Amino acid sequence: NAAATNLAPPVAAAAPVALATRTLNVLYASETGNSAALAKALADAARTQGIDARATNMADYKVRGLKDEQDLIVVTATHGEGDPPQAGVAFFEFLESRKAPKLPNLRFAVLALGDSTYEKYCEAGKRIDRRFEELGAQRIADRVDCDVDYEEPAAAWHADMLSRLAPSQAAATPATAAVAVASGAVPVAVSAFDKKNPFPARVIDNIVLTGRGSSKETRHIELSLEGSGLSYQPGDALGVVPRNDSAVVAALIEQLKLDPNASVTVKQQTLSLQDALNRAFEITAATPRFIEHWASVTGAAELKRLASPEEGAARTAFLNTHHVLDIVTRFPAPGIEPASLLAGLRPLQPRLYSIASSLAAAPDEVHLTVSTVRYDLHDVPRAGVASGYLASLTDEDATLPVYIQPSAHFHLPTNDVPIIMIGAGTGVAPYRAFMQQREVEGASGRSWLFFGERNFRSDFLYQVEWQGLLKSGVLSRMDIAFSRDGADKVYVQDRLRAQGRDISAWLEEGAHLYVCGDAARMAPDVHGALANIVETHGGLSDEAAKDYLASLQRDRRYLLDVY
Ligand code: 2AM
Repeated sequence: NAAATNLAPPVAAAAPVALATRTLNVLYASETGNSAALAKALADAARTQGIDARATNMADYKVRGLKDEQDLIVVTATHGEGDPPQAGVAFFEFLESRKAPKLPNLRFAVLALGDSTYEKYCEAGKRIDRRFEELGAQRIADRVDCDVDYEEPAAAWHADMLSRLAPSQAAATPATAAVAVASGAVPVAVSAFDKKNPFPARVIDNIVLTGRGSSKETRHIELSLEGSGLSYQPGDALGVVPRNDSAVVAALIEQLKLDPNASVTVKQQTLSLQDALNRAFEITAATPRFIEHWASVTGAAELKRLASPEEGAARTAFLNTHHVLDIVTRFPAPGIEPASLLAGLRPLQPRLYSIASSLAAAPDEVHLTVSTVRYDLHDVPRAGVASGYLASLTDEDATLPVYIQPSAHFHLPTNDVPIIMIGAGTGVAPYRAFMQQREVEGASGRSWLFFGERNFRSDFLYQVEWQGLLKSGVLSRMDIAFSRDGADKVYVQDRLRAQGRDISAWLEEGAHLYVCGDAARMAPDVHGALANIVETHGGLSDEAAKDYLASLQRDRRYLLDVY
């Protein structure tokens, strides 16, 4: 009904919120691409309603223009402990500083994406929302926070936004909105398989890469994409749909004295409780919401205390040592209904792994490098949901539901551009894909790999392959950092510093820089080392070194794939 909307008389005075002449900017800061897709879908839909709308990546936003904005809608993910994604760092810094202008003429709304397993759930969105209010802007609607299963609340929010922004009374129906969001979230629709409908990929190889005596179990897993129509670029990720460990499912059912065959309804489907716990819910790590839920189910005073807002630190400590099974064991709920258990659990989420292969070198295949998470909790051995499941897929006929999650920027530059690749542990995976691609294409650009792991003898992942690539010249240089071989820790950033002069020269010659692996400590430490390097060897001040790295990031020559 776009035509009807266009023909509607300009009844701006009676419009719910917006005048027909107002402009709308949907500003997004995306972590995995979801916020970007939602923002673009909203701007597109608004335009079909005759609104002068656009979507802007926060990374590209000129903050000078902020005071001239009319309607500004922010869609932001949250990173780590309540920070914005990388794309939003500069904007947040400006907005939360004293430089930010008063915004009495601005109308705004915020959609916050997050993950409720984290204490600082949707915090980036909350920060923006608070700050706009402080600066005197007016809310178009209250902020909406979405958990990892964001699709439905985001579609409802999308419809609500359109109805509030509509220059006429003709609002989009929720059904249209849902379609718009769904189509916006799928960048290339060449395959019939995607997140909602993953492809059952056959496991063609599943071997342990780490050697005897290693403190880790890191696997190389090869999957067949034959017949799927799926394709990917080096740098993209594979979405993997895991299942829970059936022993944990059984223990949970047993502990709660439930019937495994009891019928339950999940997303309009009827299945057995056992199936639901195996395939549909997160049943290992608990969340703040589960504590709250279980407190109300059991009435346990200790859980009620842990659920209160001022007990954040105690709650985090408790969650670190108590899985769902531990909580229901310690705080029993005799006679509980299956639905009452499920009501406290989050939907099982797919996991993303950086792809370790190139289709050019391995047609119809996708390879992963996966470190199996194994640990003891209360003297019981436990494993990570997805990595444990992947480790178990060793049968000939095993399959795994997968889809491609394209990366926004973590891709190779043109073949003649030099690249510096920094990876610790499984963070080396995308570089295997990069090198495979460059080998097939006969790329002329130089390449330099920094790889870090614990022990040379057991943990030098893909050692033989790197040596071959060095020999053939596809890989120009390699520096390795094994942290547990000597008395002192040696990390990739130490090797970088030692090579500072050459790193600085490569950057001056236009090299692209990639960092992949641990987000919490490795990536910030590497960033610090890079700042030191450009200060020392580029003769820059502290401030100028920061700006230099920021400009590399803006130009997408310094890219992160960290987790
Ligand atoms: P460690 O566990 O011995 O401390 C892959 O996990 C490699 O990354 C390991 O060698 C690990 O060392 C290392 N690592 C740990 N913290 C790091 C950091 N802050 N920066 C770089 N590498 C780190």
